[in-house]
Amino acid sequence: MTTDVKVRNEDIPHVGLGTPAGEWFRRYWMPISRVEDLRDIPLGIRVLGEDLVLFRDLRGKPGLIGNSCPHRGTSLEYGDIEDRGIRCAYHGWLFDVEGRCLEQPTEPEGSVFHTKVRQTWYPVRELGGLIFSYMGPDGDNPPPLPRYAPLIDRGGLRQIEPTRHFDYNWLNFYENSADPLHVVILHRESGYGKQSWGDQFFSQADPPAYEPVETFYGMKIVMTKPGPSDDTEIVDEMSLGLPSILQIGDTEFVHAQLDKETLEKKGSQFEHAMFITPNDDDHFMMFTVDYYTGPDPDIFRHLKEMRKREEPKQDVKEYDHRKHMPFRGNVRREDLMTQGTQGILSQRSEHLGTSDVGIIMIRRLLRKNIEAALKGERPKGVLAWDEAENLFQLDSFVGVRAKKSE
Ligand code: FES
Ligand SMILES: [Fe+2]
Repeated sequence: MTTDVKVRNEDIPHVGLGTPAGEWFRRYWMPISRVEDLRDIPLGIRVLGEDLVLFRDLRGKPGLIGNSCPHRGTSLEYGDIEDRGIRCAYHGWLFDVEGRCLEQPTEPEGSVFHTKVRQTWYPVRELGGLIFSYMGPDGDNPPPLPRYAPLIDRGGLRQIEPTRHFDYNWLNFYENSADPLHVVILHRESGYGKQSWGDQFFSQADPPAYEPVETFYGMKIVMTKPGPSDDTEIVDEMSLGLPSILQIGDTEFVHAQLDKETLEKKGSQFEHAMFITPNDDDHFMMFTVDYYTGPDPDIFRHLKEMRKREEPKQDVKEYDHRKHMPFRGNVRREDLMTQGTQGILSQRSEHLGTSDVGIIMIRRLLRKNIEAALKGERPKGVLAWDEAENLFQLDSFVGVRAKKSE
């Protein structure tokens, strides 16, 4: 495809087939389910505005095909799973994991009509407990699935949190990570504001300095404060990988409230990765992966207990019917309120200031990479085959390190 489209900010949030960002998204592998959630019944699932059905045939092969039966439209989500595929409940057409129609029991004996029907299908792969799909133009020759570090076993512990579902545009969540200053205002009553590590790293009175930095996978925000000695600094990195992956490393400090000494000696031993998959322009799913290489064998249970204590503590008046009340005191609820009320970027009027430098940078990067995809080039985050074996690592260092000499 060669199109010289000038992509505008208003184009970025829209993911449907044939839209600029929709075409760009279709160059990447994206997670669509946890492995443990795909059992012995089909899962109806909407991805990038397309209604699909995910199933595993009785031979163990996962498949993702169009949900609407090509015969007369019945949902395959109610189909029966068999050895060789999924059978529509209405007239029994049978489809394999690549959308081939294998049987049409109501057609005359010897009919070859079934060979003329091919359902929409997309390749799927499993990695580290997630199922990924590639919805791009050439399903027979997809690019390599990146070996995302938190999904690769390297002697640590991993958990995949239950999938979260949101009812607003994916970009609101994604670009929020390029906006570090919201942390000291919005999250001042929750995990970030109440920390003891890093000289009150996110205190409102003394917020960290920050710098957006372009990387091979997208960009990162590098936040810093003076370290324990003149030649050191405390660093907290937050990464935005294309198309829609976030990674932070400060989870154990924010929620498990580790002490200053651990921070200075070891730094974070946590990778908290969030894969955002848009269902459509107004909904997205989030697959959250935690990878831990520290000494606590019960880290995930401890984290869960800490998070429970972070339920919102805000008083709600009996006549207060606002949708997002209460939200203060819980990082996730605070983010949900702010991002869920912004509306979609293409219908919003904004006034960006100096402090929005990270937002400006991620949008520029997205526009540039969407344009590259439309020109038939390889956008950031899509790998060439000679890079396929590399560990795909997003930066999320948190700790003390030597100051960069100017
Ligand atoms: S509608 Fe599916 S087989 Fe007829
Ligand atoms: Fe936030």
